[in-house]
Amino acid sequence: MLQTQLSKSLNLETPLINAGMAFVAGPALAAAVSNAGGLGVLGTGMAPPEGLRQMIRATRALTSRPFGVDLIGTFAEVGHIDVLIEEAVPVAVFFWDLPTADAAARLRRAGTKFWMQVGRMSEAADAVARGAEALIVQGAEAGGHNRSEAPLAQLLPRMRRAHPNVPMIAAGGIFDGANMAAALCLGAEAVWCGTRFLASSEADAHAGYKQAVVAAGSGGNEITKVFGPEWPGQEIRTLINKAVVTARGRETAAPAESQGEIIGSVQLGGQTVPVPRYSAILPTPEFKADLDWACLTAGECAAVIHSIEPAGDIVRRMTGEASRILEQLSRKVA
Ligand SMILES: Cc1cc2nc3c(=O)[nH]c(=O)nc-3n(C[C@H](O)[C@H](O)[C@H](O)COP(=O)(O)O)c2cc1C
Repeated sequence: MLQTQLSKSLNLETPLINAGMAFVAGPALAAAVSNAGGLGVLGTGMAPPEGLRQMIRATRALTSRPFGVDLIGTFAEVGHIDVLIEEAVPVAVFFWDLPTADAAARLRRAGTKFWMQVGRMSEAADAVARGAEALIVQGAEAGGHNRSEAPLAQLLPRMRRAHPNVPMIAAGGIFDGANMAAALCLGAEAVWCGTRFLASSEADAHAGYKQAVVAAGSGGNEITKVFGPEWPGQEIRTLINKAVVTARGRETAAPAESQGEIIGSVQLGGQTVPVPRYSAILPTPEFKADLDWACLTAGECAAVIHSIEPAGDIVRRMTGEASRILEQLSRKVA
């Protein structure tokens, strides 16, 4: 049993949360994490409001425990906020851009907690000013979109000093119990893990994508801006494949030269959607295109993740390891 104020306040059994990864963290993953005592979080990416509602209901059919929803601020419309409130979702997490002041106030009034993921001191100050009830501190080693200004071990203490009364959740490079314990020692109230759950049985990722994560070695990923005709110019940490290497140093020119060339297709919301070269759509199981040209976003800790496991096992193992390490440590220094 490992508890913090934050995990107790949400009736969790462990302060462990899966990152709300667009495309990848669907109802199966979120429910598996919640059922194992953590907080499951749905990634919604660009899903429209009714798509979001379906995901929430599908998750509720798989778990009676609390779970959250992650939205990219840029794509969060009034309709998404309406759905979160109507469906009484306990936690709404925003990333990259803040929700509007009105959206944040509506969520809080409705009893949905408003959390913000941030990677820069300036973003943290803006989020706190907007009423964020917790900050997810994203270190530079993290997978996904990433414009963090420092590694987690430096950023978290800085953020805590600047905002001592705001609970902090650690994100970036947390893949086992020792890292989880270390984040709690740094003062985090919980950990938020993406890449570890990308390599889980329940993640909605293409088998080849999961294999690429477990096969990645040290130095196997980097931050690039090449992916995303859908949302251009954003920094994403990805595994290094042909697309990344080909575009190095010419991350604006390369997509422009490909002139919207279609390299395959994917199923999104029950529809077949074409995949342009350098698309930021992540390879889901039905993705039909060369993975060497796909966006295989993952964090630096892919280098130390060697197996694809059921998400519940990951939650239980990390929690058990972290508890044991913290107990041994307190005996050692007593
Ligand atoms: C495949 C993948 C997709 C992601 N998509 C999102 C997203 O849609 N929204 C979000 O807030 N963060 C997203 N992230 C970033 C995570 O929230 C988090 O910062 C990161 O996974 C933590 O680092 P780690 O991957 O080393 O655990 C994504 C990360 C990964 C690996």
